[in-house]
Amino acid sequence: MTRGCRPGVARGRGAGQDVSVSAPGVSIEPLAVPDLDGARDGLVRLLRDCVHGGASLGFLAPLSVADAVRYWYGLGQDLRTGVRVLLVARSGPDARIVGSGQIEFAGKPNARHRAEISKVMVAPDHRGRGIATAIMEELEARARTGGIRLLYLDTSEGQGGARRLYERLGWSYAGGIPGFALDPDGTPARNAIFYKMLG
Ligand SMILES: CC(C)(COP(=O)(O)OP(=O)(O)OC[C@H]1O[C@@H](n2cnc3c(N)ncnc32)[C@H](O)[C@@H]1OP(=O)(O)O)[C@@H](O)C(=O)NCCC(=O)NCCS
Repeated sequence: MTRGCRPGVARGRGAGQDVSVSAPGVSIEPLAVPDLDGARDGLVRLLRDCVHGGASLGFLAPLSVADAVRYWYGLGQDLRTGVRVLLVARSGPDARIVGSGQIEFAGKPNARHRAEISKVMVAPDHRGRGIATAIMEELEARARTGGIRLLYLDTSEGQGGARRLYERLGWSYAGGIPGFALDPDGTPARNAIFYKMLG
């Protein structure tokens, strides 16, 4: 079993391979631009289900299909240049997309040691199985491989946030800003900023 993962979800990296395999039934792998078309419906469903369930991911509810499509395709340039890595978790015989997470590498000359984790989300009917934990572990592994020494993220302190997840994973709380963003229902919420130094 992979370190930190719950039973049933493991992560592995084959030598020289760019794909992580989880078992049983859950795989976590990067999504490249050519894969966007095939993954579009799954990504749109995942994002809309999470936002409509109250998750603070940068959107207000209701989130239209068109806006969700626009969001995912809008990542194309960053994925192409490698500024951003998008991981997707797939499950079941139809390889349904049940989770995702991103890492964005900082471009400024004085910030190449740091990267931001964002948009970690798991489909409501797949939560509590260690999928977010596995996504976070894979994102962290990729950060280390890329020479990153500082990871950071922010989440909502309101209903839409995931503070417990990051605390449980050993991230350090740095503080928060009142009314930083609106939760999907329009409620202003403080954010919680977390960081992790990679040794
Ligand atoms: C937070 C979230 C990603 C967790 O996904 P998951 O696959 O269920 O998480 P895991 O099974 O790996 O880990 C479960 C742990 O995450 C935490 N967690 C689970 N659901 C959570 C939620 N809704 N809010 C906050 N923390 C949550 C808990 O600490 C839990 O551990 P515990 O059961 O021992 O207390 C998922 O609930 C989700 O997608 N929420 C909506 C999106 C979101 O808020 N994303 C973060 C934006 S920065």
